[in-house]
Order: sequence, then structure tokens, then C-alpha cells
Amino acid sequence: MSTKLFPFKLMLFTSHNPQPTTPQLSDQNPIEYIMAHFLLVTYPAQGHINPSLQFAKRLIHLGAQVTFAITISAHRRMIKSPPPDGLSFVTFSDGYDDGINPMDDAQNHYDQFKCNGSKTLTQLIVSSANQGRPFTCLVYTLLLPWAADVARELHVPSTLLWIQPAMVLDIYYYYFNGFADVIRNDNNDHTSSSIKLPGLPLFTSRDLPSFFLASNTHTSALPILQTHFEALENESNPRVLVNTFDALEPEALKAIEKFNLVAVGPLLPLDKSFGGDVSKDYIEWLNSKPESSVIYVSFGSLAVLMKQQMEEIARGLLGCGRPFLWVIRAKENVEEEKLSCREELEQMGMIVPWCSQVEVLSHPSLGCFVTHCGWNSTLESLVSGVPMVAFPQWSDQVTNAKLIEDIWKTGVRMIVNKDGIVEGAEIKRCLELVVGDGERGEAIRRNAKKWKELAMEAANEGGSSYNNLKSFCG
Ligand code: UDX
Repeated sequence: MSTKLFPFKLMLFTSHNPQPTTPQLSDQNPIEYIMAHFLLVTYPAQGHINPSLQFAKRLIHLGAQVTFAITISAHRRMIKSPPPDGLSFVTFSDGYDDGINPMDDAQNHYDQFKCNGSKTLTQLIVSSANQGRPFTCLVYTLLLPWAADVARELHVPSTLLWIQPAMVLDIYYYYFNGFADVIRNDNNDHTSSSIKLPGLPLFTSRDLPSFFLASNTHTSALPILQTHFEALENESNPRVLVNTFDALEPEALKAIEKFNLVAVGPLLPLDKSFGGDVSKDYIEWLNSKPESSVIYVSFGSLAVLMKQQMEEIARGLLGCGRPFLWVIRAKENVEEEKLSCREELEQMGMIVPWCSQVEVLSHPSLGCFVTHCGWNSTLESLVSGVPMVAFPQWSDQVTNAKLIEDIWKTGVRMIVNKDGIVEGAEIKRCLELVVGDGERGEAIRRNAKKWKELAMEAANEGGSSYNNLKSFCG
């Protein structure tokens, strides 16, 4: 690990800056240079924690110290191995210590998280400063715009770490800045004519985040995102760190003149940090399969599929006739026991409640990833050079699917029928396209290899993301 110290000129916590809310900072003389000390806070979902942890690790590698403020529920799920030197955790309650369920009131969770989180961050910032170890920067991720307010009140610089593609940030920005009528989808139309936004490729409405649909039930999402943009616009020179890399999204990173989007990805998860004592039988099973033969199916940490959709997936997998590893999470599998072709499935493939996805994707027997296109899963697949069959569910996932199919051309996107179901025959068609001998499959596999190399190049020492992060730190 590098021992380099980054000198930060400290402008805060002086008697000339007497505006903090309670608790009070003690008066002290300005400290001119201190070690980089980051306070990192993230939303307690796996897809947010994984890239944040990886980000913390990168900062530490560059010589900084990181305090990670995390909810009790998220901390409980982590394997209790000692954190690396330079990383410490502070836990607080968001009022949902047993975790959040899809049925929980999102607004209530947001309010409690904001209230307890703000108090925790304030106390941390104040006590660290008073102990002579002030934070030089507060980094916060998606859905926590209030963290920027805490930082501003205490005169600590803050930065948003955007854990989705730059393209998605751009789309939201345009929505809140003059393009709402173009973007809003009042008819829940998935096939409408082209949508053109400055600096971005042509979209149809099925490519835009699901929060714009009239049928969207996550009603707090857009107001929270709007607050994020308002917080950024309050800054004199808004800079956002993005979990992407320069070569992956060159146009999207530059589309918005007002914002400086800095690519620091791919931030891959610390794959052994979550999941408890999962059996590694599946690795042995993968070991027994020929190279590039296995289809991996997973819908991330949140999505819950309807029974009918699960049956269609089963039909598609059986029809394709290849070995598969299918993750059906405990919360997802209420009806899993009743899958009609359970025995046949077990003969041809393996079903697990969870796996170390990064390990699975990098296994030589992997041939294809049927993914919900969560941004982490998308990046993990890209970095492993595994072609994808895109099966997006909601949020940014539909835009990520557009990137996969149309921009990077590392996979194909499934087509849903008029009832919103992807049929078994469609799943089989897409799988055969991606793993088969046809020209398109070959091109997809070639592209997947190309992006793997470019992703590694960006993240490695001297690569674009490495250098961008180093400039951010220094
Ligand atoms: C959420 C949103 O749904 C997603 O759209 C957004 O981009 C990020 O936040 P999630 O749905 O959980 O995330 O998907 P994803 O972003 O792919 O993150 C899931 C993480 O869980 C990945 O890092 C993946 O490696 C890990 N995982 C998933 C496992 O380690 N094992 C599993 O069995 C399944």
C-alpha cells in the first residue's frame, strides 16, 4: 500500500467560521496541512454498498484514511473480518435494523435515514475535528442528498459518488432542466418514437429509467433525485465522481457542461464482504463444466420476479439445453419450491440462494450472464468479459440494457410480451444468439473481450480511472 500523504489545505473549523449547528466545534487555529481523511456514507442496499466499499479501498490504496458510516442492517450482513488498515466503520440505525423490504414505506425510511444519518454525520465531523483528525471530504452516494447539507453546514467539502452510469445521471439532469415533457412517459409507452437529448444517443421510451413511467410506484425517487441536482447546483464548481470509465462513456461524461463528471470506475465489489457462509459447492460444479458453457442467471439483490416469469425462465433454460447456475434469493423464492419443472432443472443446472458473483463471472466455464442489468452486475460482467442477455426490471436497468445492446454491443436485450412477461421461447432465442455460432454471437463475444481489456486498463495503476481518482485526492 502506498504511504503517500495528500496535503489538504484545511479551511474549516476555525474561529472565523462560526456557523456549525449543534454540537459545536471547539475553536482552534487553522491547521494548514492534514492527511486526506474521507467520510463516506452510502444507502444500505448491496448495489450501493459494494461500489462504495471498493471506492474506500481505492482511496486507502492512495494513502487516505476512510471512515465509512453505514447502517446497522448493512453492517450486520458483512462478514466480520477486520477492515483493512485505514478503513474504519461507524454504524447507526436508520430505524430498519432488520433491513428494508420492498413493501416498506420508502418515504418513512428516507425520513428516518435522513434524520439519524444527519445526526451521526454531524457528530462524527465535529468530534473528529475536535480530536485533531478532521474530515477533508464527505463522499455520499445516491439517495442521500441530505449528506451534502450536513457537509455544507459544517464547511466540509462534499462530493457525490454516482453509482450508476453517467448516461443515467445525464437523463435525470435533462429531466429536471427543460426536457421533462420530452422524457415523461404518461402512457407507459414502451415503443414510442425516438427521444433525442443533447450529447446522448437516440432513445426510445423503453430505454429511459422506469421512474418516468406513469405506472411508476416509487414516487419518492424523482423528488430525491431532484434534491441531489439542487444540491449540486448550489456548488460553485459541481464535480461528481462516477462509477464508469472514460472509454466506456466518453460522450455521456461530457454531455452536461455545468457538471464535471469524473470517471473513477469500474468500482468492483469486495466480493467476500457479504453473503455470510455461503456454500462453495457451485464453484466445484462450475469446475466440472467445459469452458464458456455455463449460463449464469441472477437478478441482483432486490428484484422479485413473479412466479409466471420464473416458470418462463425455467422453460427457456431447459429449452436451451446448456448447464446453468441460477440464483434464486430467499426472499425471491417464496414460490420457488413450486416451480413445475424443478427436477429437470436440477438435472441440467444448479440453483443457489446466493453466490459470490464476481467469482462466478470470472470462472472460465462461464459463457453468458442473464442479468437484470443492475449497474454493478453490468460492470462485473464487462470486466469479466462475459456476454450478457439483458433482462432489465426497473430504475436505471433499462438504460443499462440499452448500453449493453446498442452501444457496447456486448449482449442482447429480451423482448417482453404485451403482458410484461418474457416468454421461454424469447429467452431461448436470446441465449442462442449470444452463445451460438452465428455472426452476431461471435461479434458479441469479441466485443465482450475488448471491453474487458479496456475496463482493466482504466482501473489499473496509470489507467484513466486510477489517474482521475489520484487527481481527486491530490
Ligand atoms: C441496485 C439497483 O437495482 C441497480 O439498478 C443499481 O444500478 C444499483 O443498485 P441491485 O439490484 O442489487 O442494485 O443490482 P446490482 O447493481 O447488480 O448489485 C448487486 C450486487 O450484488 C452485485 O455487486 C453482485 O455481485 C452482488 N451479488 C448479487 C452477489 O454477490 N451474489 C449474488 O448472488 C447476487
